[in-house]
Amino acid sequence: MTIVSPSLLAADFGDLRQEVKKIEAAGADWLHLDVMDGHFVPNLTFGPQVIKTLRSEAGMIFDTHLMVVEPEKMIEWFAGAGADIITVHFEACKNLAQTLQKIKALGKKAGVSLRPQTDAEVLRPYMADLDLILVMTVNPGFGGQKFMPEQLEKIAKLRDMTQGKNVIIEVDGGINAENAVLCRKAGADALVAGSYIFGSNDYKEKIESLR
Ligand code: DX5
Ligand code: ZN
Repeated sequence: MTIVSPSLLAADFGDLRQEVKKIEAAGADWLHLDVMDGHFVPNLTFGPQVIKTLRSEAGMIFDTHLMVVEPEKMIEWFAGAGADIITVHFEACKNLAQTLQKIKALGKKAGVSLRPQTDAEVLRPYMADLDLILVMTVNPGFGGQKFMPEQLEKIAKLRDMTQGKNVIIEVDGGINAENAVLCRKAGADALVAGSYIFGSNDYKEKIESLR
């Protein structure tokens, strides 16, 4: 079954409580929360306080994507705010193995994300420590960009590298019903979609079209 993780980045920021309730009622499996710090990416979004406030509105898995430098310094904040999955960027970590252990020690699922330019091979030494790999199919920082089809090869390669291991592969950036099929065929388990879902007035129909 395809896991659908709508990205709150494309929701109405003036009415986040309602948006979270609506997306859960529409059948979202997870909620994707894009945390940006203005350093790792040239954009700012929200932090643990907002996540904590939304936590009481929904039972969905909170899928937290940290696009921040030195994420290891913030892991406790997001764990405390109610994140279920904490994904850090490979490119942003000083010591990835330690960072993943820290996430797991807090009882959370540990994810690593790769920018489009970063090769799948960099994750080979960490396969045993990972719960999830987030493949970026746009340059991180903004919603509404175009899907990069050349990343499909990376998804397939990672699927191969994770053979026999319990690792979820998630894709993020420019996902719609057409490229969702290609991502699933390449081996992705979970699809993040922001503008495709929140840009519509029928969230349920869009979520189902991705499945
Ligand atoms: C981009 C974020 C994505 C973004 C996806 O840096 O990581 O999660 O919200 O938005 P769409 O689906 O509009 O590309
Ligand atoms: Zn994201």
